[in-house]
Amino acid sequence: MKRRILITGATSGIGLEVAKALVNEEVQLILGCRNLNKADEIWGQVRPIKGAKIEIFELDLSSFESIDKFALEVEKSVSGLDVLVNNAGLYMDQAKKTHEGFEMTIGVNHIGSHYLTHKMIPLLLKGESPQILNVCSKAAYYGKVVKRDDFFQNHPFGFKAYSTSKLLQLMATMELAKQLKPDGIAVNAIHPGGVNTNIFRGDTLIMKIVRKTNQKFTISAQEAAKSVLTFIQDEKKWKITGGFFEKDAVKINVNPKLIDPVSCEEWVKRTEEAILTKASPKKPKMFKLGERPEV
Ligand SMILES: NC(=O)c1ccc[n+]([C@@H]2O[C@H](COP(=O)([O-])OP(=O)(O)OC[C@H]3O[C@@H](n4cnc5c(N)ncnc54)[C@H](OP(=O)(O)O)[C@@H]3O)[C@@H](O)[C@H]2O)c1
Repeated sequence: MKRRILITGATSGIGLEVAKALVNEEVQLILGCRNLNKADEIWGQVRPIKGAKIEIFELDLSSFESIDKFALEVEKSVSGLDVLVNNAGLYMDQAKKTHEGFEMTIGVNHIGSHYLTHKMIPLLLKGESPQILNVCSKAAYYGKVVKRDDFFQNHPFGFKAYSTSKLLQLMATMELAKQLKPDGIAVNAIHPGGVNTNIFRGDTLIMKIVRKTNQKFTISAQEAAKSVLTFIQDEKKWKITGGFFEKDAVKINVNPKLIDPVSCEEWVKRTEEAILTKASPKKPKMFKLGERPEV
């Protein structure tokens, strides 16, 4: 059977290159893209091999309504999912909030992606050697979580938010790997390296300087995509779970204090509580810690 692979953010950078590499194989690709016109323009020029199937659906991770609609499209399209690549992400050079009122960087990179992940778990449970791959970053080392009620809502933007969003994503990876191990779903985080992509957008002087510096010291998105692709294409890696990996699937030794299991569990709980206060009551399809979702 063709592997069914969902990739978020397949209109630029790493996500686009991961998806483009996969159209040379007999796979079923589902691409979650926030800008359908851009997606159509890019994907209209890609020539997949005959056995590859590509579907593109709108997905804005800064809106639960959009995530709900996207999840319904995916459910209509496939009866099971083998790989979920949570790649879409952003860096904000200004204060902005998601539709639900979360700081935009944390809201998209962590909360929106976590909500989508939960919505996909019932499909992943019906997948073959299912995997969740979170495109994370070593920027997580600089992230800081503070137990404050409005932490997700009122957080400074810029690098503080980006690094914290990646730390939360890394912690969620560890916690979900633990929770989903009995169900056979592998969950890993990947640091793709410093990559020359469009992540640093905006017209402020600082963003212009960051973009220029970034171009000089980074690898191409095509090169970075290989760190993700190896987990999808190499069958020997399908069962690996609960790790943070970089180029050539080398395991990263994370400072244990950053990802101690108690904190990981607590921050996933906080994230899910925040989601549940905003998600449409009929739609969340979330399960509490330790519980298994109904399939
Ligand atoms: N670049 C690096 O050096 C680096 C290093 C470590 C980790 N990463 C991670 O790699 C991932 C991909 O980033 P990239 O560097 O490839 O950046 P990129 O070129 O800016 O691509 C980001 C992708 O995410 C999409 N996206 C942004 N906000 C979204 C939203 N609200 N809803 C849905 N999709 C959204 C973008 O859509 P549009 O095309 O519509 O903007 C784009 O397709 C991110 O998670 C990032 O944190 C990057």
